[in-house]
Amino acid sequence: MLDITVPPIRPLVAASILSADFGRMAEECRDVLGKGADLLHVDVMDGHFVPNLTMGADMIRGLRRHFPDTYIDVHLMVERPQDYVAMFAAAGANLFAFHLEVSQPAKPGGVDAGKLLQQVRAAGMDAGMVINPPTPAEGLAPYLDRLDLVLVMSVNPGRSGQAFMPQVLEKVHWIKARIGPGTRLEMDGGISPATVDQATAAGADTLVTASALFGAADRAAVIDRLHAARLAPR
Ligand code: DX5
Ligand code: ZN
Repeated sequence: MLDITVPPIRPLVAASILSADFGRMAEECRDVLGKGADLLHVDVMDGHFVPNLTMGADMIRGLRRHFPDTYIDVHLMVERPQDYVAMFAAAGANLFAFHLEVSQPAKPGGVDAGKLLQQVRAAGMDAGMVINPPTPAEGLAPYLDRLDLVLVMSVNPGRSGQAFMPQVLEKVHWIKARIGPGTRLEMDGGISPATVDQATAAGADTLVTASALFGAADRAAVIDRLHAARLAPR
């Protein structure tokens, strides 16, 4: 099993199954993993945080059954991530990443990111936080020393196949300067052979890809190209 706290020597490629053929999911995952993808990225959407509805614990459980040794990165685009910690841990998720935008500790019943991170760890998962393109990175500052992964969205979340937003690269730089070697910096949205060098030059070391990978005629070539991007020096 991949240990994401070990600094990688080349970018990690996270295959986002949102663009896979859902009717042939195991076959699709076997294909991209066989071609070198390092982990699977599962996009959970609840129809509230984003309008779209996608998948949940049953999908994670199914993937875990077919791929017992593959790292499963779960990206929660949901309003109440706290409701899914135990369920997703039991289903076999390795990383639980929730959005900073849902953290509202002052609001009665609101999410307290600090507490949620503790719950995620207590459940045996790696802990990640995500920020949307319009959200300033400063809000992550209190949590950066406790995160296994920071995910910077390079599209507004909700669906695959959107254009990469270079304006978020400044935040990636800012975060990269403030995390330790054990914290991965992931980018998600519009990552492709055409945009990957900007992402890694800014400091990203974990690359989510959906449409550019699953939609490619030569998937191995896409994975090889992402792996070949130069990581920024520490
Ligand atoms: C978007 C999801 C992404 C999405 C990426 O809300 O979080 O993981 O699948 O799709 P591409 O790579 O096509 O931009
Ligand atoms: Zn995602």
